[in-house]
Amino acid sequence: MNILIAASEAVPFAKTGGLADVCGAIPKALANLGHDVTLILPAYRCTKKFPTEPTGITFSVWIQGRELKGTYRQCRLPDSHVPVYLVEHDLFFDREGLYNQNNEDYGDNCERFVFFCYAVMEAIRLLDLKTDILHVNDWQTGLIPALWTLRYRDYAEYERIATMMTIHNMAYQGSFPAEAMSLTGLHWKYFNWLQMEFYDRLNLLKTGIVFADAITTVSPSYAREIQYNGGFGLEGVLRNRSDVLWGIANGIDTGEWNPQTDVHIPAHYSVENVHEGKLACKTALQQALGLPVHPDVPMVGFVGRLHEQKGVDLAVELIHRKAGNEEIQWVLLGSGDPNLEYSLRMLAAQYPHRVSVSIAYSNTMAHQIIAASDIFLMPSRFEPCGLTQLYSLRYGTIPVVHATGGLLDTVTDMTEETLLNHSATGIRFETPNLEGITWAMDRAIGTYRYNSSAWTQMMKTGMQTDSSWEQSAQKYVEIYQKIQRKVPAKLS
Ligand code: ADP
Ligand code: GLC
Repeated sequence: MNILIAASEAVPFAKTGGLADVCGAIPKALANLGHDVTLILPAYRCTKKFPTEPTGITFSVWIQGRELKGTYRQCRLPDSHVPVYLVEHDLFFDREGLYNQNNEDYGDNCERFVFFCYAVMEAIRLLDLKTDILHVNDWQTGLIPALWTLRYRDYAEYERIATMMTIHNMAYQGSFPAEAMSLTGLHWKYFNWLQMEFYDRLNLLKTGIVFADAITTVSPSYAREIQYNGGFGLEGVLRNRSDVLWGIANGIDTGEWNPQTDVHIPAHYSVENVHEGKLACKTALQQALGLPVHPDVPMVGFVGRLHEQKGVDLAVELIHRKAGNEEIQWVLLGSGDPNLEYSLRMLAAQYPHRVSVSIAYSNTMAHQIIAASDIFLMPSRFEPCGLTQLYSLRYGTIPVVHATGGLLDTVTDMTEETLLNHSATGIRFETPNLEGITWAMDRAIGTYRYNSSAWTQMMKTGMQTDSSWEQSAQKYVEIYQKIQRKVPAKLS
């Protein structure tokens, strides 16, 4: 099949979160299954350091009577033959951030991504991209299925295209004041409660959900949750489309996240020497962060966006409860909400020997924390899939997670039964409050300290769990096949 993937971020070109990991990995996984895959994304400032070639092809998008010109640059996804097109329009994309700066969304985000959606549609024709499946991701590309249905489907280059929308997070919907409807170039009659409107606003995620031929989200549990109470208001819209809605758990890039070859960590290890390897990583991190160098103190890591979603406030409460009286080291890395950044900094100042906080975005440090920690904490209130728990499993770091979404699907809770049948890989808690998280952490620390055979068994089971992309890519292909359009041969 010919698959065109449109996304607002993809590793290594541009990343704010897991969306980029996924959109950088899926094309390669699909290509490995024998499909022709092309990736298209905006040419942000951060993409400009990658070597690219001009295609010489320019295009125009008309927004509210103004002609906006753009061009496509091209390169390949590293370590693959996957062609990548970057949509260049510096006024919109040559900026410091992808969506915001200093925690404030750009005022013209709707226009920027409407422009990108048209640029994707035009690319199919102008770059002659043979396309069976147009796979779009999140609200930034949500207009595309509507453009196909309402504008492009009758043209020969487009008629066989089927569209698929993957939702990575229901919390971000691309919701704009009603006037933004006129930026889309579509007739106002589509601004109604069954199509593009939601509570008198233009909603681009809803638009994608309504118009796509198939919808997926990034774990089976999240696919269920968003139809009942985790849909941020769009539960009914999703239930209406439940016959074409599926959950497929993300995989991970097992090349980048491999403790045997990881270029960011000071010692390499596998299941055979996991204790020695992790201890070397832990010692190095303790030294680097100025924490007491001690092999037996449990180290708890956290890496992620500092946002309400991630339950960082619960982690803060937990650390306050524990740091004064228990010998545990807490190592946290993240950035985002200024209030959460402040609470974390205060914690580190109060307990310098037990808490290390880095307010930063550092891939190297993320690798080091995940390799060095004994426990990885993910108290997310909701989590569509989550990748860092999957990385942790691969590094023999036991995840302690709130039982929600992808965390529920990918971490098997430690019980008598799961220990006996060797399926246990971590510890889950049901209620995202201080009692819940404390109970889970006590179970984790207790097992770490007093039941090292169970602990080692869980480490090894996690390390041997297959989280590679292959299986998930296969599931995407099955859905692509279901929606593929069989265009009847035209009568000549
Ligand atoms: P989300 O997409 O909701 O942020 P995921 O767990 O799916 O959550 O993906 C987060 C990705 O971003 C992971 O690759 C993680 O390592 C990375 N990440 C998040 N915060 C940081 C940070 N401060 N420094 C380095 N990497 C980070
Ligand atoms: C989102 C979700 C995260 C998921 C990622 C990639 O950002 O918050 O859970 O892993 O997308 O699909």
